[in-house]
Amino acid sequence: MTRHQHERQHDHHHGEEHGHGEEHGGGQARDLDQLDDHAYWNGRYASAQGGHIWSGSANEVLARQTADLSPGSALDLGCGEGGDAIHLARLGWRVTAVDVSDVALGRAADHAAEAGVADRIEWQRHDLAETFPTGVFDLVSTHFLHFRDGTLSPRVLRAAAAAVAPGGTLLIEAHGGLPPWQDEISDIHFPTPEETVASLELAPGAWEILLAERHPRQQTHPHTGETVTRTDQTVKARRRAG
Ligand SMILES: C[S@@+](CC[C@H](N)C(=O)[O-])C[C@H]1O[C@@H](n2cnc3c(N)ncnc32)[C@H](O)[C@@H]1O
Repeated sequence: MTRHQHERQHDHHHGEEHGHGEEHGGGQARDLDQLDDHAYWNGRYASAQGGHIWSGSANEVLARQTADLSPGSALDLGCGEGGDAIHLARLGWRVTAVDVSDVALGRAADHAAEAGVADRIEWQRHDLAETFPTGVFDLVSTHFLHFRDGTLSPRVLRAAAAAVAPGGTLLIEAHGGLPPWQDEISDIHFPTPEETVASLELAPGAWEILLAERHPRQQTHPHTGETVTRTDQTVKARRRAG
């Protein structure tokens, strides 16, 4: 399996509108394998049909799991075109939003300006395999930040946990398995929610695990247009205040 094939499994989440997983032909896959994450993701965003990959809306889990939180500072890791960051900013959060792709970040900044929340969001480009934003935040959120080899980087997730302020919340949303149209690819291990929690190596007694669960999500099959059910996973934890 090429890295490109591997990556395509992550094309399909919150209400995306096109079959953007098809935007690169098979002949290009070998070339894509040679790119670093920055070039790869920039290429994907730049070639998106209709000028965007994702729906522009916030992830449903993000909206639901943060609805009861008081707005403060938030960090969105792998923010893409900014749907989650803009949602939080509209609710009064001050958001630092990070992605490896400056094409995505530029697009996200445009959307934030259109939404009237540009002054509440700071966009930062990081390859999170290399560098991580400074500071601590009341909410650290990451949705579908699977690296190109399919992994959720435990090192990045631990850095995410370390960036949560006392009393703050960590929210990790990820795929829990392959989509039905790719179930022939069998050598990918999707960590269970329990494995994700364990990989965080949280200090005993310092955190409360609020949620660690798999859940179904309806999605439109990119080839047939049928509604299919996928499995995602949510981990939500609160760092104790004292
Ligand atoms: C599947 S998309 C999800 C985007 C957004 N969180 C959402 O749910 O719409 C994964 C995002 O992670 C970003 N990404 C992938 N590898 C990265 C890395 N090494 N460092 C920072 N961002 C990365 C990609 O550019 C892409 O925007």
